[in-house]
Amino acid sequence: MLEGKVAIITGAARGIGKAIAQKFAQNHANLALISRSARVLEVADELQKMGVKVVGYQLDVSDFDRCQQIGKQIIEEFGRVDVLVNNAGITRDNLLLRMTEQDWDDVIRVNLKSVFNMTKAVMSQMIRQRSGSIINMSSVVGRGGNAGQANYSASKAGIIGFTKSLAKELGARNIRSNAIAPGFIETDMTKSLPEDVRKNWIQTIPLRRVGAPEDVANVALFLASDLSSYITGQVINVCGGIDI
Ligand SMILES: NC(=O)c1ccc[n+]([C@@H]2O[C@H](COP(=O)([O-])OP(=O)(O)OC[C@H]3O[C@@H](n4cnc5c(N)ncnc54)[C@H](OP(=O)(O)O)[C@@H]3O)[C@@H](O)[C@H]2O)c1
Repeated sequence: MLEGKVAIITGAARGIGKAIAQKFAQNHANLALISRSARVLEVADELQKMGVKVVGYQLDVSDFDRCQQIGKQIIEEFGRVDVLVNNAGITRDNLLLRMTEQDWDDVIRVNLKSVFNMTKAVMSQMIRQRSGSIINMSSVVGRGGNAGQANYSASKAGIIGFTKSLAKELGARNIRSNAIAPGFIETDMTKSLPEDVRKNWIQTIPLRRVGAPEDVANVALFLASDLSSYITGQVINVCGGIDI
């Protein structure tokens, strides 16, 4: 489904980002993978064995200048960019009374500013190509809020505003911009939850299970592919049907 396309995926070393990278590689995309740690280089080596071109880049996506440098490097290396998946994210959960300025700034920089940084790094190339699909990882808590996650839900709500604005700004250039809002997905980000909290949470999910990273990757594949060519400015929930 992605034959001949070049995709950039941030936060690709683990969890949802890695599942998206695997899914895109299975569908014959060439990949530029980004994460904060050197782990991404191992993931790139692993996926290259699937017969596609994969290059790993160690980068802190909250650093504007480095994002522009790496974006330029990727365009030189691959010649084009068809898909950008802004997936890297962190949590620094706490009730607002106890939340520090650092907790707020870290989450907004890594989750929200990174989306601006990476989009700025590739949008001129997409405009030149007159095509592109930008996929931003929001969250159901960006739509519904969550106690203890004021910073995180603000960052994820910000991503939705950004995604919708971009769809309006770039639609005439055939560049699409959509967001995915996952619910509770089984990754390192959620594994620290106590068992009783987890059990109670599952009872609120109509499909009665937590999601797998692949459930999100399937939607990313759809949004990256030409099957979604008339879809832009949308937020697609991948949450087992919970009420937001
Ligand atoms: N899991 C869920 O239930 C859930 C629900 C809704 C939304 N989401 C969103 O989905 C996305 C992926 O979540 P996940 O659960 O897969 O998280 P995860 O397992 O914790 O993985 C996060 C990824 O982001 C990378 N990353 C973090 N900070 C970075 C930075 N400053 N620069 C570059 N890369 C950075 C990490 O890199 P390293 O591996 O190098 O550290 C890692 O590859 C996030 O945006 C998250 O908010 C997750």
